Amino acid sequence: MKTGYILVSGGSGYIGSHTCIELIENGYQPVIVDNLSNSDSQSLDRIEDISGYRPTFYKIDLCDRKALDRIPKDIIFDGLIHFAAFKSVNESVANPLMYYHNNLESLINVLHFCTERKIPHLVFSSSCTVYGDATELPVTEETPLQKPSSPYGNTKQISESIITDYLKVHPELSSISLRYFNPAGAHPSAKNGELPQGIPNNLLPYLTQTAVGLRKELQVFGGDYNTKDGTAIRDYIHVSDLAEAHVKAFEYLMIDRMGSNYELFNLGSGHGYTVLEVIQSYEKVSGQKLPYKIVDRRPGDIEKIWASAEKAEKILGFKPKRGIDEITRTAWEWEKHFRKNIEKSIS
Ligand code: NAD
Ligand code: UFG
Repeated sequence: MKTGYILVSGGSGYIGSHTCIELIENGYQPVIVDNLSNSDSQSLDRIEDISGYRPTFYKIDLCDRKALDRIPKDIIFDGLIHFAAFKSVNESVANPLMYYHNNLESLINVLHFCTERKIPHLVFSSSCTVYGDATELPVTEETPLQKPSSPYGNTKQISESIITDYLKVHPELSSISLRYFNPAGAHPSAKNGELPQGIPNNLLPYLTQTAVGLRKELQVFGGDYNTKDGTAIRDYIHVSDLAEAHVKAFEYLMIDRMGSNYELFNLGSGHGYTVLEVIQSYEKVSGQKLPYKIVDRRPGDIEKIWASAEKAEKILGFKPKRGIDEITRTAWEWEKHFRKNIEKSIS
């Protein structure tokens, strides 16, 4: 094991659990703090099963600042990766205060915690949703931000501002915001993946649930966009690549750079795929036809977005290794594994 511990908020969730695996495989010891509002403690079993190490876990709501005192003061953290947040665009439109409260209060408490415990480095989960309907493609880190299309997106814009304001008066803390494009796919072992509660909102989990017969057909939202086949374009990045980027971002923070104490990076593949291309990829890797129907556009969706991945490659040395076929294949393998082995043990 390398030196100290890394506190991972939201570490039992989808991206957090994959990042814990990657941290462990790189010699770090993640300590998870999560209130399990959108995950379950079996996530720890999966992390242990894959990596051979079970992170210490604290069931704490980050909005409860006092509860953070339960984390022992003798643990010296080298850094904190802050994943914990609510993330559903639709839900945030229906219940904005829930989103502003959870996502902002938890971040404020995390920043206080960094100061109180002298944690020197913070990695923050942001989103390409901050670019809104982007004015230029591919989107670079210099592309002007647009008014967010949802309260969720607004919490990410505000969070980035809270961090930069805080850093101005706390030069002892350095931070990176990572703007994820569309995280998707599952661990290559098929033993960990996305577990949405209820009916999935996102494309990949809806697609794989359709593939295993849980849903009748996939609805493709919009066939009249100005794209090669009329369906919307997104930049899908494999969750294990994303996890690796967090380790690289963290290690970049640990180098004494003598410059600014804040950086932000896009995390995408640099390639855009239409919804129909994603379906075709699934059909190719599975050898199965997917039932789908093109329906009206989903309100609030943008037509196309993909990242310029150059800055992360140049500065962090990060380049995603897995393409769209690896994303659809691992997502499908995980869905099959989960339905066969894990779901039964829960019910
Ligand atoms: P997730 O819901 O699977 O994981 C988030 C975890 O945070 C969950 O385990 C949840 O229980 C926990 N959590 C939420 N509020 C908490 C609180 N107040 N206290 C303690 N724990 C709390 O989501 P994910 O997909 O892994 O996303 C992780 C981060 O990445 C989030 O900040 C999300 O906004 C951001 N992000 C996700 C996507 C995506 O498409 N998945 C895209 C861009 C950005
Ligand atoms: N789509 C369908 N059918 C579905 C689900 C999605 O056609 O059943 C389409 C959408 O219309 C969109 C594309 O597939 O064109 C991707 O949709 P997702 O819902 O998977 O992802 P979004 O790009 O809408 O948003 C996601 C997360 C946000 C995050 C954003 C950027 O849900 O939280 O990526 O990171 F902010």
